[in-house]
This record gives sequence, structure tokens and C-alpha cells, in this order.
Amino acid sequence: MNDPRQFFLNDFKDNPFGEFSADGREFYVTHVHLPRPWVNVLANPHFGLVVSHTGSGFTFVENSQLSVLTRWQQDLADDTSGKFLYLFIPATGELCSLSPAPTWAPLDSYRCIHRLGSTTFLGKKGNVAWSWTLLAHPRETAELWLVELENLGPSPQELELTAFLEWNCGVAPSPRREFSKLFLETQFLPDSGLVLAKNHMWDVGSRRFGHWNTSYPFVAAFGADRPPAHAQGDKALFFGPGGSLRHPLALQDAQWEPAFGRHWDPVAALRYPVALAPYEKATLVFVLAAGKSRKEAVETWQRLANPEEVQKALEETHRFWDELLGRHSINTPDDSLNAVLNWWSRYQAIAGRLWARCGYYQQSGAFGFRDQLQDAQVFLPLEPQRTREQILLHAAHQFADGSAYHWWHPLTEEGLPSRYSDDYLWLAFVTANYLKETGDFSILEQEVPFLDAEAKTLTDHIERAFALAFSRFSPRGLPLIGCGDWNDGLSACGLQGRGESVWLAHFLVLLTQEWSRIFRELGEHEKASSFQEKRNQLIAAINQHAWDGEWFWRASLDDGSLIGSHHNSEGRIFLNAQSWAILAESTSRERQEKCWRAVKEHLFSPIGALLLTPAYTQPNPAIGYITRYAPGVRENGGVYTHASTWALAAACKMRDHEAVAYLLRTLNPALKDPRRSWAEPYVLPGNVDGPPSPLLGRAGWSWYTGSAAWFHRVVSEWVLGVRPTWDGLQVDPCLPSSWSKVQVLRQFRGAPLSITMHRQPGVARTQVLLEGKPLEDNLVPPEVEGPLSLEVLLPEEEIQT
Ligand code: GLC
Repeated sequence: MNDPRQFFLNDFKDNPFGEFSADGREFYVTHVHLPRPWVNVLANPHFGLVVSHTGSGFTFVENSQLSVLTRWQQDLADDTSGKFLYLFIPATGELCSLSPAPTWAPLDSYRCIHRLGSTTFLGKKGNVAWSWTLLAHPRETAELWLVELENLGPSPQELELTAFLEWNCGVAPSPRREFSKLFLETQFLPDSGLVLAKNHMWDVGSRRFGHWNTSYPFVAAFGADRPPAHAQGDKALFFGPGGSLRHPLALQDAQWEPAFGRHWDPVAALRYPVALAPYEKATLVFVLAAGKSRKEAVETWQRLANPEEVQKALEETHRFWDELLGRHSINTPDDSLNAVLNWWSRYQAIAGRLWARCGYYQQSGAFGFRDQLQDAQVFLPLEPQRTREQILLHAAHQFADGSAYHWWHPLTEEGLPSRYSDDYLWLAFVTANYLKETGDFSILEQEVPFLDAEAKTLTDHIERAFALAFSRFSPRGLPLIGCGDWNDGLSACGLQGRGESVWLAHFLVLLTQEWSRIFRELGEHEKASSFQEKRNQLIAAINQHAWDGEWFWRASLDDGSLIGSHHNSEGRIFLNAQSWAILAESTSRERQEKCWRAVKEHLFSPIGALLLTPAYTQPNPAIGYITRYAPGVRENGGVYTHASTWALAAACKMRDHEAVAYLLRTLNPALKDPRRSWAEPYVLPGNVDGPPSPLLGRAGWSWYTGSAAWFHRVVSEWVLGVRPTWDGLQVDPCLPSSWSKVQVLRQFRGAPLSITMHRQPGVARTQVLLEGKPLEDNLVPPEVEGPLSLEVLLPEEEIQT
């Protein structure tokens, strides 16, 4: 196979297209022409925007698919769609934009700074320099722009700055633009300079709102801190005959004939003259606000449209992220990993996955039942209350029979009832982890309504989920896969109710163990032992029926044939069926070792751990849509990063330091050579092309991936080994052997802990010292009071098993 060195940088500082700031919190994009857009997601829990290094992107309220304020065309090859600022210099006739798009005019200097909570474009053309910062207000439904223009020369400058966006105000994308624009209404308020937009028809599901018979529930307002000299509301009039987004002819016209109302192609183009004396600077701010009424939208704009407010919001946003993420930090010898884990991957999980629920590769807007539950684990060591809220939100999207929506849309509450075999079980998984972190058993008593029945306690919800799962077993005692399990693409294996899932069997082994412990804590001994019993039966069935000789097969199909078995020429071995055998301890140590050897032999590739191999080359309707992806892409034999993070945890359980080092390196986006990987170095991609893709090593689906929260969780809990358990906080590191020192700051049950790990000659196995005294079982007891400093002595060399 290809030489791995082709896919990775020797050092993350060798990135040819940009660099991290020294503290890792910022990424400076220095090249305009990248293989693909490198974006930032700027969001609060109810509002947000995505902006790429070209300046393209879109803005939404509450739901990034059903409630998108500004129009955006998903086109990653020509990233010229979004909200822009044109700069026209009438004296020379020069036209450029403050971001590379949409004019693509060459600039004398360019830098795009993506940081947690804001993006800034720095540029210069001739004697004019600028900075344009975009952010989502931390609390309001408003996007803010802070624009500074500076005259660098000795002569006065007469500039014209024109802001431009296209209204969408509803479902995105809008493929029927000619139809949907018929319902949009805009208005220009000359005194304030605001443009208002409203959509009289919201193209959402008919069950609740009637077919095409409801209005979009938000009014949008866009304007600056001053009225423009000219305003235009029609796209064709702004472009002019033969003009384009790249070069709107109206920019050269002295007068504009404004066209707002209900009969145009609705945009907002606002032109501001900016006269700069020699060396003078000017500041302008813009606000794009949304409100439930026109009044609310206008008032939000009024409150925020001044430089002090925008500056304040910017500082508050940066402080929020620093403070939140600073509650748990790690310091390893690998600076690139520190940058990704201390800042970006958790920001990705919170801003991208939980709040915006989108990236450039997917405008989702929906909550995935299993997805955002897993993501919400990111808050456990930071602000577990937010995990609690997410757990209860998902419980409220469960049916009384224990099943749940596969996904649902906030705002409309449309959802997809499903027969996925695992969705509803993630409630049990994340709740158990919440309990281990917090000890807050009161959550179990919390009453939550079902979608179709009155409120019951969370325990009741979870017991119903288990009861449903237990009712879906094959005669030989393995769980049925239905229309898929964690791997959505195995969508046809069990449609007729016979196909089985081995991954799900492992998952249930782990869950029954956890819940038997929870029932024991609750004094419900009968339930505890019946869950133990279930677990034993599952382990017996797995080992009797699912062992393939050298590894576990992955699933059986309705006709009884297997996938992930040595009999298969494609899809011969799957990662999750092995990694979860180790994580759940659902087989003997000997078999775990065999599984792990098979993973290393067949699935470890130069670009990372593949989800399965060999990739499917032909659609197979009996397996599902996984076989319809191009071979090597996403779940079909690529590196699926979400699953690779589980392999990393398994590597730690196997105490395989070399594999830990390999997985850390291949998962770390900052180390990927962007000429091969294309995607952003600061956030995790969902997948990396595996063989036989001609684009081996290409990363895709950046931002919108469940791996972001998992990567952090696995590194902190398994690699660094600081892991909440039922008996306290376990310290059980499994570091790459080249690491000699690591520091961790985190809280546990309210007590701040500072943990320093280092290698110590003569130490035979890891020892945790509290004030110089060894802690029993390397366990920080749950009732600790802080602050505490722990010292962890690591053996110089650990013997590999
Ligand atoms: C996608 C889905 C997620 C699923 C994964 C693997 O990321 O959103 O729910 O588990 O694919 O198929």
C-alpha cells in the first residue's frame, strides 16, 4: 500500500495553507485557493452561521435546514454563494470584496482567521486595508459584522462599500427558487436603512401546518449602524444586464431604482459611501437579526447596531468559549493534539453538532436521536447540566413502546419513526455516563412525556427501550438488526425481521452491565440480576454463534447469510464488531486478542483504521445503501472517524501503546497533509477515503461528525485514562510510549483536579499519588473535596501484552 508519509505532515507547522496560533485557539488561513472550503461554524444554541475562508456561507435560526435566512448553494468546487461585502474604488474603477468571494479580485494581502466564536478577514488592496469580523451574538438571534476600513496612504480615499445577501427565509436548499420567491416580501425602511424580509409560505411538512399553508415564523432584518446611500431589493436589477455576482453592474451606477416588495427576486444590496482622510480609519457594523415579529427583529437590530455593542458581543463570545473549554484541559507533548482537543474538537461538537447541526457538507438542522445524545457527552466534564437537558429532550422524542424518532426537526417537530435497532438504546448509554460523571441519580426520577403518552420517569423511558430491544431477538439469542444499527447504511440487512447485528449484541452486553449496576445502586436487586442474566445469555450467544474463527462477523441478513465473515469477498471484516467486543468485554481475553490482531492486520491502513474491508464495489440491495457508496467512501470501506475513536479506546484496553500512537496520529486532523486530505486541519472530518478510492486519504464531511466529541472523550478517558467510573475517578493512562509527561486539569463532582503524569524509573506499574500517598486502585473517590493535585507515576516502559 502507499507510503503513509504521503498522507501526513512531519509537523503540523508544515501546513502549506495556514497555521494555528501559538495557543491553538485560532487558525490562520493564508491561501485563497484551497482544495476545498475551510469553514467556521459560529453559533449560539438558537442561531448561527457558517462562513468559509472565501466568505461564502449562510445564516439560520433554530434549524439550519428548515429555517435558513440567507440563500446558499452547496457547491464545494465553486464556493461563491453567500453574504458579501464589495469594495468599489470609484477613482480607479477597481472592484474587490473584503473576502475572496464573490469578486475573486487579487488582493495585496489576505488572511482569514477562524477562531472559536468568530471569523475575521484581513485584506489589503492598494492603499486600503480592512478587517471584517463575523460572529453570532452569544445570546441574541443576530449575526454581527464589525468592519474596519483604513486608508494607508497620504491621499484621501472615496470608497463605496456594498453589502449583499439573498433572502431565503425558509427551507434550504430552495430548488424551486422561481416558485418560492413568489411568497417572499421585502421592505426597505429609508430612515433606519433596514431591509426587512418575510416569507408568506413555509415549505414544511403538511401534517402539522397544512400543505403549503403556513407562513415562515420569523421576520428578518438586515442593516448597518447608518442608512445606506442606495438600496436595492432585486437581484437582476443589482446584477444588471450581463452583470453577475462577481461583477454587479449596479456598483458603477450613480443611482439605483430600488425594488422592494413582493414581486422581485429578493436580495438586500446596501451601498455606503466611506470617505477616508489620509491614514484615517472608519468602523461600520452590520446586523442581520431575526425575530418572531417585525417589531422584535427591528428592536434587535436597534439594540445591537453600534460598534460598542458588537465589540462587547465579540469579547463575550470569546470569553464564553475560553471559560467553558478551559474547565478541562490537557497538555501532552503533542502541540497539534493539544490545539485540536483543548479547543477545536469540543467547539466542533458544541457549535457544529449540538447547536448549528450543520457543516458545509450537510445542512441538517435535525436532532438525530443517537447522534446528538452521543455529542452531548462533550458537556459531561464541563457543564453536565447541559448533558442532562439533552438526555431529557431526547427522552421526549420517544414513543411509549420504547422506540424513538430516528431524527426530528426542532421548530416543526416533524420526525422519522424508525425501526433502527439501536437509536433508543443510546438513552441508556448516555444516561449511565451522566450518572458516572455526576452521581446525580435524581435525573432518573425526572418525568418526561412520550410522543404518544403522558409523562413517565426517565427510568421508565429507558426500561421501555430495553424491553423493546429484548423483544427483538433472533431464535438463537442475537439482537435483530432491523433497518440498520449504528451503521445506518446497513439499511436492508434485517428488513424482514430475521437479520441480526453483532455490534448491537456487544453494545447490549455493555448496557446490561451498566444498568444492572444502576439497578443495584437503586436497590432494585431483581432487575439488577435479570440484567446480569441477560448479559450472560448475550455473551453466550455471541460466542457460540458470531465467532468467525479469527474475528466476529458483523451481521446476518434476512436469508441467513453473513457479512463481515471470512467467507465474504467484500465486506470481509468490520471494525465495530471487533472493537466493541473489547470495549464491552463480551468475549474471552484470548478472543479479544485475536480480534485485535485481525483489526491490525486487515483494517489498519496507511491512512487510518478502515470501517470495513474490502469495500463493496456493487450495490447489494440485501445489505443496504452502504454498498451504494463509491468504494472506499464513507462507511463503505473508508476511515469512518467516529468508529476509529472507538478503536482508539479498544487499543487502550488492549494496552497496545503502538496502536494508540498510530490511531492518535491518523485521527488528528492537524497532522493530515491538506494537499491529500483537502479538509480543514482544525476539525475532524467524518470520513477519509480508503482503498480503492483514487483519492485515497481525502477527508470529507468535516464539522458534521460525531467523532468530534468522541475523540476528546476517548483521549481523555482512555489514552490519558482519567475516567469516571461507578466507584470514582479512575486514573489508568495508556500513553504512546514516546510521551514522558502529561498534565490534565479537570473537575470531578465539583472538585478541581490537577493531574501530572510522568515516567519514573523503577516503577513497575502506574501509581497515583495524592499528596505523596498512593491512592487505592488508582481511584479518586467520588466524595472528594478539592482542589487536589495528583501525581501519576508511569513505568518507563510498559510490557506489551
Ligand atoms: C451518520 C449518522 C449516524 C450513524 C453514522 C454511521 O453519521 O448520522 O447516526 O451512526 O452515520 O452510519
